[in-house]
Amino acid sequence: MGKTKMLLGAALSASQSEGAYDEDGKGLSISDTVPAGRRDLTRRYPKPDGKHYYPTHQAVDFYHRYQEDIDLMAECGLECLRFSFAWSRFFPQGEEMQPNPLAVKHYDDLIDKLLAEKIVPIVTMSHLEIPQALAEKYGGWENKEFIRCFLRYSQFLLEHYGDRVKYWITFNEMNMLLYFPCTLAVGVDLTDKPEEAKAQALHNMLYANAQTIAAAHAIGKGIQIGAMIAYSPIYPVDCRPENIMLAYDLERNALSIADVLVRGKYPGTYERKIDEQALQLERTQAELDTLAQNPVDFLATSYYCSNAASIEATAEKSAGNLFGGARNPFLKTSEWGWQIDPQGLRYALNYLYDRYQIPLMIVENGLGALDVVTNDIIEDDYRIAYLEAHLHALNEAEKDGVEILAYTMWSFLDQVSASSGQMSKRYGLVYCDVDDNGSGTFKRIKKKSFYWMQSQIKNR
Ligand code: BG6
Repeated sequence: MGKTKMLLGAALSASQSEGAYDEDGKGLSISDTVPAGRRDLTRRYPKPDGKHYYPTHQAVDFYHRYQEDIDLMAECGLECLRFSFAWSRFFPQGEEMQPNPLAVKHYDDLIDKLLAEKIVPIVTMSHLEIPQALAEKYGGWENKEFIRCFLRYSQFLLEHYGDRVKYWITFNEMNMLLYFPCTLAVGVDLTDKPEEAKAQALHNMLYANAQTIAAAHAIGKGIQIGAMIAYSPIYPVDCRPENIMLAYDLERNALSIADVLVRGKYPGTYERKIDEQALQLERTQAELDTLAQNPVDFLATSYYCSNAASIEATAEKSAGNLFGGARNPFLKTSEWGWQIDPQGLRYALNYLYDRYQIPLMIVENGLGALDVVTNDIIEDDYRIAYLEAHLHALNEAEKDGVEILAYTMWSFLDQVSASSGQMSKRYGLVYCDVDDNGSGTFKRIKKKSFYWMQSQIKNR
């Protein structure tokens, strides 16, 4: 079989772009109950309280404007779009026996429109959201009831859309849960045993992932299914042996979930952590066998930045996507302090491919920045420079022999920032006229980077 041509495109997520949070029968998702303007995600309000602004409620209105937006994607020449379905549109309470027909129709129409424009859909089943009703009833993914509910959802998606959607990603950035006691991805709230709840939630998600892979393979239809992690390579800040070991340990920890996804088995260091902390987990042999029998077809990852590790508590710090780390003096940072490291993308792709030897996808990579609009013109040369350097690294990795199925930059449209809820942290090739308080016309304006990306794809 010949090598698959890498698809070049862009990405969006439902909760960050769609809006229409309570329309056409949609239930609340947990991202709809997080108010704007915070970097810390540990607080959640059970229901919108009218006192706060909830940015996902209208986001950038992709739900109503998807036709116009897909026309823009076609104009840009996108070969693929990575986007997510909103679970709570299909199953508003999470436990209905049948999906909401209006949600089914909405995504039918959206997929048909993409295919009509020859844009390959890459669908994430759950991206930073679960139905709020499930979170309220069961707490979060640490409860095994979630597995049953997710499988009803994922099975339906594969059966209904599998003839048109060939690339599926079960969960967004699964390993993020290793770093936060509570995340939008899993609904785990602060408990008196956060480490146990996290490890149990991760295990339940991994098991649901493995069962979904089994279902996809049983359906056939040429479906390829993967899962996603966030990956930021971690360099030792210098060659001091303790820093090298620390970087190695952090790296191994960050990849422990990918190890299970690809190799079907928890790595020894992860098991050691479980033992040392005496975490009481419910993991049956049948579940562990299912993990072993159902590895992913491909591994998807985001890549925004690299991090550095130092054992010195006084080392200068930097921010980052997964977590921060020590400051790398050789790198510049974004306005949000993330260290910009294009070569790190080539490193990451080679490292992951050497380790796992399966096809990869880069499903997020981009620059969050404050854009200035002057007479409807946005000269985002900084974003072009970021993307150009990363595309170069991507191409180098491909020449190195890494099998890359797709690259989808983050993001096609400006959308709500996941970490801060801001609109002003903009990633898009297309500007959306909405501010941090939700005011604006929602008008779309093509940025300079839109035209740049268009020429990149055209001249491949
Ligand atoms: C990734 C998430 O971690 O980072 C996206 O999958 C998110 O949903 C992206 O938007 C960028 O992070 P932020 O916080 O700048 O939006």
